[in-house]
Amino acid sequence: MNLPPGPSAPRLVQTWRHFFRVPSVYGDAWRRYGSPFTARMVGMDMVMLTEPEQLRALFNPQEHRLRRTRYQDIQGQALGPESLLMLDGARHAHHRRLLTGPFRPDRMQRYGGRTVEIVRRHAGQWPRGRWFSAYGPLEHMAMELILYAVFGLQDPAACAEARTLLDPVVGAPPLLLFSKALQVDLGHWSPWGRFLRNRERLNAWVDGLIAERRAQLEAGERHNDILSQLLEAEEPDGHAFSDLALRCELLTLLATGHETTAVSVTWALGWVLRHPSVHQRLRDELAACDTPEDINDLPYLDMVCKEVLRISPVLPIMGREVVEPFEIDGYTLQPGTQITALGWFIHRRPEVFPDPERFDPERFVDGARFDRFEYLPFGTGARACVGRAFGLYQMKVTLGTLLKEINPEPAPDEPWPALRWRNVVVLPKGGCQIRL
Ligand code: HEM
Repeated sequence: MNLPPGPSAPRLVQTWRHFFRVPSVYGDAWRRYGSPFTARMVGMDMVMLTEPEQLRALFNPQEHRLRRTRYQDIQGQALGPESLLMLDGARHAHHRRLLTGPFRPDRMQRYGGRTVEIVRRHAGQWPRGRWFSAYGPLEHMAMELILYAVFGLQDPAACAEARTLLDPVVGAPPLLLFSKALQVDLGHWSPWGRFLRNRERLNAWVDGLIAERRAQLEAGERHNDILSQLLEAEEPDGHAFSDLALRCELLTLLATGHETTAVSVTWALGWVLRHPSVHQRLRDELAACDTPEDINDLPYLDMVCKEVLRISPVLPIMGREVVEPFEIDGYTLQPGTQITALGWFIHRRPEVFPDPERFDPERFVDGARFDRFEYLPFGTGARACVGRAFGLYQMKVTLGTLLKEINPEPAPDEPWPALRWRNVVVLPKGGCQIRL
C-alpha cells in the first residue's frame, strides 16, 4: 500500500510507544518527515497529520469515507452501544443536536452558582502545610458539577456514591476493554467478570434515576437537569429515546464531562503558579469580581485559559478510520487505515505560534482568533466537543474562584510539564503538586 513515510522501528516497538508513551514521543518523526507521516503498528497503519489543509479534509462534516476510530470501542464497552462516541451518520448528528442544547453558551448561568459553591467547599477542606496533587481534588469537584448538570444531584454523599459506581467502569484498563482475548468472565475474581458486574451495578443505578425522574415528570413535577430534558426528546423517526439510548448518553456526558475539565484546570493551575507575573495579574483582575458571570467575562483569565488549552491540549490526538479509499496529499489510504490529528503538534507550529514551548497568554490578546484548523482544543467538524461552552466556562469559574480563595505554591521539584496518559487525556505527570 502506498503510505506516507515514517519511522522504521519494528511494529511492536511503535505500538508500544504509541500506547504507553505520551504524544510528544512523535516530535522526532514530525520534524523528520513532516505531515503526513505513518506510524506502523501491530495490525494497522496510523497516518499522522498536523497541516491545516489536511485537517480540513479530515474534519469535513460531509466526509462519508471516514468514521469514528475503532479505539472508541474501548469507551463503548463502558458507556454502551448507543453512546454518541459509538454512533456515526444521521443518528450521530441527531443525538449531538440533543446533547448540545443544554450546553449552549446562554445556558451557562444556571451552573455558575453551583460551581462557586463546590469550589469553595472543597478548597476549604484541602490540607494546609503539606504537598499534595491538585488533580485528584479537582476531579472530585468536576464530578460533583457534572452530576448536578446531568442528574440534578446536590447531596455530596450521593455524589460520592455515584463516583464509586462510575470509577471502576469508566476507569477500567483500556487494554481489558479493547482486547477480546482478555474478555473472559470467570466470575468476580477475573478482571472481565469484575468489570461486567461493576457495569451492571452502574447501569442499574442510572436506570433507577431515569425511572424516578420519569415518574416525577408524569406527576407534573419539572426539573432543570439534562436527564429531564432528554426524557422529552425523540429519535429522528419520532419515537421517544429508548431507555438504553438515554442511559448511554447520560453516561457519555458523565464520562466526557468531568475528567476533561478537571485536567484543564490542573494544567491551568500549574502553568499560572509557575509564572508569578501571570498569577499576580490574574489576582488583580479577579479582585473586583463578585459573581461567576463577572469571572467568566474577565479578558485576561480568558487569554490564560486559551493559552493553557494550546500548550497542554487535554485531548492531544483525535482519530478517524478510513472506510472507503481516501486521498490525502497524493496518497490513497485504504479502508482500515487509522488517521490521527496530532493536536499536540498542531498547537506547536512555529509559523502560527512563535516560540511554541513558551507559555504566553498574550498570544490571545484582544480576542485574537486562530483558524479552526490551527487551534482546536475542542476539536472541530462533525465530532467537535459537545460540552465546549460548559468546559471553558467551568475552567474559568473554577480557576478564578480557586485563585480568589487560596494562594498555593507549586512544588519546585515536580518535573514540569512532563506528561502522563489517563484514559484518553494527558495530565501533568505529578498531577500538579501544590502546598497551601
Ligand atoms: C476543557 C474541557 C474539554 C475539552 C478540552 C474537550 C475536548 C474535546 C475534544 C478535542 C473533542 C473532539 C474529539 C474528536 O474529534 O475525536 C471532544 C469531544 C467530545 N466532548 Fe469534549 N472537551 C471538554 C469538555 C467536555 C464536556 C464538559 C463535555 C460534556 C459535558 C464534553 C463532551 C464531549 C463529547 C460527548 C464529545 C464527543 C462528540 C462526538 O463524538 O460527536 N466535553 N471534546
